Amino acid sequence: MKQLLLYCRAGFEKECAAEIQHTAALHNVFGYCKLTTDSAYVIFEAYDADSLAQFYRDYPFEQFIFIRQWSLLLADLLELPPADRIAPVIAAVLSAELSGCGEIRVEYPETNDGKTLSTLARKLTVPLRQSLRKAGVLLPKELKRAPVLHLFLLTGQQGYVGLSYPENNSPLENGIMRLKFPNEAPSRSTLKLEEAFIQFIPKHEWDKRLSGGMNAVDLGASPGGWTYQLVKRSMMVTAIDNGPMAESLMETGQVRHLMVDGFKYEPQKKNNHWLVCDMIEQPQRVAERMADWLINGWCQETIFNLKLPMKKRYETVTDILQQLEQRLVEAGIKYRLQVKHLYHDREEVTVHIQNLVQRF
Ligand SMILES: C[S@@+](CC[C@H](N)C(=O)[O-])C[C@H]1O[C@@H](n2cnc3c(N)ncnc32)[C@H](O)[C@@H]1O
Repeated sequence: MKQLLLYCRAGFEKECAAEIQHTAALHNVFGYCKLTTDSAYVIFEAYDADSLAQFYRDYPFEQFIFIRQWSLLLADLLELPPADRIAPVIAAVLSAELSGCGEIRVEYPETNDGKTLSTLARKLTVPLRQSLRKAGVLLPKELKRAPVLHLFLLTGQQGYVGLSYPENNSPLENGIMRLKFPNEAPSRSTLKLEEAFIQFIPKHEWDKRLSGGMNAVDLGASPGGWTYQLVKRSMMVTAIDNGPMAESLMETGQVRHLMVDGFKYEPQKKNNHWLVCDMIEQPQRVAERMADWLINGWCQETIFNLKLPMKKRYETVTDILQQLEQRLVEAGIKYRLQVKHLYHDREEVTVHIQNLVQRF
């Protein structure tokens, strides 16, 4: 097994490839990527199977930015004749001497063509699961702790079969977090912040870190999709934007709207837990402002977007974050930083930074 299959947003294959190559090389795993623009996946082929297997086991999946899911390929591209798509999958899995898997996910690339395979993927899942159980590859009952088998359909007649480990993969089908748009929210952007909360804050800490009565600041808040997520969690929000805020939010009495420059605004008191920021601006400038907030102790945690340039997007993000981290380290801030190209992000990534020293 020398190949990794990596899923990403369509159009971000180069970023996905740059990320895996750079990260793997730092762990002495060398290889090359095979990719097609707008295909929503990349294959990384390593020169050495053992070092790849070790990297795949040890490197924390959650640290990837552009990679939504990864699996170790068990075979080269399989031909899946419509008369019997299951037999080639079983043959490939048996020849890889696999057993004890906990579940099978039939997936497809997140492209317009790929999405047409969703019905086939659903139809194939049950008979494939039964056959895999009969063949002794899948355990008799679904087990979330056991390895996951992936059949990644490229078309109705071709697909890759791969393996991932539940302690170090995305638990989500296709690596995608599907969320329902709340009709009362003033903009679709609301889903970005909702996804960020789910992605970055463990559920068991929500009561402590996303709790009612907390103060929050939203920079670039209009019309209020992000503010809506904070208001929904019973927080008091200072919304900064020259643009208007949705009436429905203002009527809650939880929102104070200030029409000032988000880069100049300074809070009067150090009582904000959250700073969120969705201003469309140079990513470098946004990152610097976020560092100001953390270093000045104006917030405990922040979630913000970095809008991506047209080219060298992976390099730009990593450079900017490196500079930001350097400032935090020099200021003696103890922090946790996470960054992800979320499903609801487009030309941007979302960053979360938590000051690990409780300020109040
Ligand atoms: C993508 S929109 C924000 C959408 C919002 N997060 C939502 O969910 O509805 C970006 C906003 O940033 C605001 N903005 C850009 N530069 C700003 C600045 N310097 N100060 C304050 N707001 C700014 C714009 O007016 C715009 O409303």
